[in-house]
Amino acid sequence: MLNIILMGPPGAGKGTNAKRISASYKLPHISTGDMFREAIKNQTELGMLAKSYMDKGLLVPDEVTIGLVKERLAKDDCKVGFLLDGFPRTIPQAEALTKIGEELARPITHVLNIVVPESVLVDRICGRRVCKTCGAPYHVTNLKPKVDGICDLCGGNLVQRADDNEETLKSRLNEYHHQTEPLIKYYSNFNLVHDLDGTKSLDSISEDIKSILGE
Ligand code: AP5
Repeated sequence: MLNIILMGPPGAGKGTNAKRISASYKLPHISTGDMFREAIKNQTELGMLAKSYMDKGLLVPDEVTIGLVKERLAKDDCKVGFLLDGFPRTIPQAEALTKIGEELARPITHVLNIVVPESVLVDRICGRRVCKTCGAPYHVTNLKPKVDGICDLCGGNLVQRADDNEETLKSRLNEYHHQTEPLIKYYSNFNLVHDLDGTKSLDSISEDIKSILGE
């Protein structure tokens, strides 16, 4: 069974590669960022709380995020395995996930760590456009849709995310370096980490992933 964590800084390509892995290996794609954005769209209490942190490029508090993921991982579709994108992001989240994995008998099997230099991240984040309907990511030069401003997958309109600007990116990178990067050491202690060169083409990255996860 594949119980995977996809890690990397903002703009590394977690969402883009997650969609490919999820389709190839038939795994539910669990993105905490997408869950929070959905809650914001639906104007729920969780959404309003998450927005107050996300707009500043700060992490949503652990107790909120852990509860959300715990509930999601207990669902039946995760019995075949799962792909976590953007969780865990702090040591308390990683420790909680280890405990949840033990309780549900679904331990983490792989941590895929996407490595991309900071200069590339700024261009990717500022040039990113996402589908307002299905969330699929595009880029103004690297990954254009077939029809300008329209999602190839569902025909939705492409928009820029509220937190995709240089100012907010600074806080997001700061959070990443201080809170999330230490997780690489945490998971290396369990021998679970595989680095991926995120500057390669998406097809080459998929090949690298296949050599780690198998066909
Ligand atoms: P989240 O939605 O997880 O955002 P993030 O981690 O900042 O990552 P991004 O979605 O910005 O980037 P990505 O790595 O998915 O890159 P993408 O594939 O789109 O989190 C948002 C916020 O929610 C956080 O700041 C926080 O407030 C909150 N949050 C979420 N999870 C939380 C948690 N666990 N705890 C607390 N708070 C949490 O690619 C980027 C661009 O590059 C795209 O345009 C794409 O087309 C392009 N691209 C990707 N790969 C390639 C490639 N190989 N070649 C060329 N272009 C590429």
